[in-house]
Amino acid sequence: MGATCTRGIRKAIMGGGAHKVCVCGGAGGIGQPLCLLMSMDPNIKELSVFDLNVAMVPPKGVASDLSHIESKVKVSGYEMEVGKAPKDHLMDCLFGCSLVMVPAGMPRKPGMTRDDLFRLNADIAKGIVEACARFCPNAVVALIVNPINSIVPAMAELYRKAGLDPSKIVGVTTLDCVRANKFVSEITGCHPYQVEVPVIGGHAGMTILPVFSQDYYGSRIDPSKIPDLDRKTQDAGTEVVSAKNGKGSATLSMAYAGARLGRAVLAGLSGQTAVECAYIKSDVTELPYFASRVQFGRKGVARALPIGKLNAHEQKRLAEAKAQLKSEIATGMKYAQQTS
Ligand code: LMR
Repeated sequence: MGATCTRGIRKAIMGGGAHKVCVCGGAGGIGQPLCLLMSMDPNIKELSVFDLNVAMVPPKGVASDLSHIESKVKVSGYEMEVGKAPKDHLMDCLFGCSLVMVPAGMPRKPGMTRDDLFRLNADIAKGIVEACARFCPNAVVALIVNPINSIVPAMAELYRKAGLDPSKIVGVTTLDCVRANKFVSEITGCHPYQVEVPVIGGHAGMTILPVFSQDYYGSRIDPSKIPDLDRKTQDAGTEVVSAKNGKGSATLSMAYAGARLGRAVLAGLSGQTAVECAYIKSDVTELPYFASRVQFGRKGVARALPIGKLNAHEQKRLAEAKAQLKSEIATGMKYAQQTS
């Protein structure tokens, strides 16, 4: 009886698929739980845990630890000294990867906006993205690096300049959907898994636009409560930053959200239908980058799905979101233009 029960749990810890995944920043606060969740993905075969020699723990230690769980995945750790250029040193780690997940860069401290992190985090992301361009140019590169609204355009434009496909660069915005779903479930009493609120726009302040009207439960919430719920979703990251009191931002919920996106990408690459919200090079609005529901396929991003019908509140919010997003995209494009 006991054996039957635990076998059920163990069956959920899978691995045994066809894809190699690297987590760059895999020994950090987001990276460690993200590695754990990715190592349980049914479509994964191999996991590289990469980090710098100043990470919370050595990446080889994370790999050793993970290699004991009952998954079929092969896990390896790779460490690099601070100051070295990733593009010259990550061959073994990245070669053969279908997906590279990048939870890297500095987190916010209370009082900071995500924008305040741009210069520092863009340079960190650039090192990793250049290594991907060299060693796994066909991989999907999922960036969990703030400010996503500017970093994704910057890195995608660097890919374009290098003759690579800019749609391989994907900004992880899934945490906004996770939060919106959770908050709707708390108000309506349904289970969060029954809720599917698309969150469009971007991943900072007013650019985070949860489209509650497009979800069955969300659309049943009293309209007078929607502006507060909208703001709560926009401010959720800041709430965690304040609660952590200078010791970082969301790590566990971000890892969960990153793994949800990673799972969709790997499912698409494996020929299964998969849709998640993400921030990508897009033609669903007049802006060149936009978060919306994205269909993933055998080559990564298959297409950005249309925004769909918005109510009056959401239309007003879309105009505000686009205005902010426009200047944040410009920051990223300028970085790419000025960088060789
Ligand atoms: C989040 O939404 O939790 C992350 O973008 C981290 C942050 O700085 O808010």
